[in-house]
Amino acid sequence: MTVTVKVSTPEETMAIGQKMAPLLEPKDIILLDGDLGAGKTTFTKGLAAGLGIKRNVKSPTFTIIREYQDGRIPLYHMDVYRLEDGSGDELGLEEYFNGDGVSVVEWSKFVADELPADYLRIAFKRLDDEGESQRELIFEPHGKRFEEMLKKLREK
Ligand SMILES: Nc1ncnc2c1ncn2[C@@H]1O[C@H](COP(=O)(O)OP(=O)(O)OP(=O)(O)O)[C@@H](O)[C@H]1O
Ligand SMILES: [Mg+2]
Repeated sequence: MTVTVKVSTPEETMAIGQKMAPLLEPKDIILLDGDLGAGKTTFTKGLAAGLGIKRNVKSPTFTIIREYQDGRIPLYHMDVYRLEDGSGDELGLEEYFNGDGVSVVEWSKFVADELPADYLRIAFKRLDDEGESQRELIFEPHGKRFEEMLKKLREK
């Protein structure tokens, strides 16, 4: 099962993240993949707001991982785009994945070997032919937990 949603503004992308936030629990893993500038960090800003995080969420491109502890549950925001080849195992991702918060991973294909079996993947696509702010978000749940979550999200 996959679910495709079209959005036309950054605010709409953030609103989906915000709506998802109340459904999240510790150890949940959300993978955000897709083009540069497609809206992965924008989505994460909405998700963080929905968790009640007041700190400004900045792209962790150069730091790889940023932690936000001031919301309902911790947010571990990772962007592994700049990871050296094959050094994913040195990041200690497992500790985050098994930690007390939700992990959001941009560019997850660069740590494909380190990922657990269950996660929600969201693929972001720019629809440039339809306008510069048009995007398609394709939700792809892996495992029962995320299939249920996606169902609840659609009912909201
Ligand atoms: N519908 C939309 N959804 C999300 N962002 C949009 C949308 N339309 C325009 N934008 C703009 O596109 C940019 C998306 O940047 P963002 O940093 O979220 O992308 P990203 O996918 O995280 O990129 P990167 O791969 O470099 O980390 C922002 O400047 C945002 O304002
Ligand atoms: Mg980003």
